[in-house]
Amino acid sequence: MPPAPSFVDLQPSAGSFLEDVLQGLGSTPKAISPKYFYDARGSELFEAISGLPEYYPTRTELALTRDCAADIAAAVGAGCLLIEFGSGASLKTGLLLRALHPAAYVPVDIAADALKAAAKRVAQQFPDLPVVAVCADYMRPLEVPALKDIAAPRLIYFPGSTIGNLTPAEALEFLRRARELAGRGGAMLVGVDLKKDPQRLHAAYNDAQGVTAEFNLNLLRRINRELGADFDPGLFRHVAFYDAAAGRIEMHLESRVGQTVTVAGQRFVFAAGERLHTENSCKYSVAEFRRLAQSAGYAAESVWVDGEALFSLHLLRG
Ligand code: AVI
Repeated sequence: MPPAPSFVDLQPSAGSFLEDVLQGLGSTPKAISPKYFYDARGSELFEAISGLPEYYPTRTELALTRDCAADIAAAVGAGCLLIEFGSGASLKTGLLLRALHPAAYVPVDIAADALKAAAKRVAQQFPDLPVVAVCADYMRPLEVPALKDIAAPRLIYFPGSTIGNLTPAEALEFLRRARELAGRGGAMLVGVDLKKDPQRLHAAYNDAQGVTAEFNLNLLRRINRELGADFDPGLFRHVAFYDAAAGRIEMHLESRVGQTVTVAGQRFVFAAGERLHTENSCKYSVAEFRRLAQSAGYAAESVWVDGEALFSLHLLRG
């Protein structure tokens, strides 16, 4: 029997969903953070998106990680403390764990159930590897006393181009905090989606089967269920486009008609055609991301890019 992974619950605050939704619907333009996409159904839909023919990032990053795992291991060295942010199902992690032989693995995620299940799977696959699962919002400063006892250089792994869901200013702040957590001799490995042909980007967020549209609209279903709202998802349509000047995909939910929606007793008016902004997905050139990382105090040590120049993996030294 492999040892059970330890579980540290930092109790990421559950109360902020209602506050954030009320504040976001009361702002001009209306906006809600993409972090709220991921209820159980939203996570399932994101898994489905990851396998779509148009959505290249997941499979490209997986293949790139497989191809460069040995190079990453050579650069990082054996015996690090591997901390993964937004570990979810820890799918890409197996490749890294096999190549890196870390001293311990610390998956960090806000979704407790998925985190526990993934940590258990990793502990079964790697019975000699200590696993400390931490339930926390990694967008906030992270204090985990259990990690202080593990004297190994830290590698923070942040795959999936989730960093693209932050604005560059937020990403800078986030990278600075991660650098503090990595500490002396620490490093960060970040997956970043690259700028490319806008048509390819457009297709990736407007798939033919409508899974991304469902993922976007599921946010309204979640708000209805968890916050007692009365959105009619049929009265909104999914809108996603590439804004070349900002270098990002924007996703919105556009009201098909003039309507009033009630959330927790508060009424919000939508004009016909008015949009609720639900996600930014920023794309970077290699040089742009390196500059951002350098502004956060890192040395941009290595970068790996797939053969079609779709996706990049950056190794940053703190
Ligand atoms: C999780 N994140 C990096 C995805 C992205 O591409 O920005 C979320 C997503 N939104 C629509 N499709 C996928």
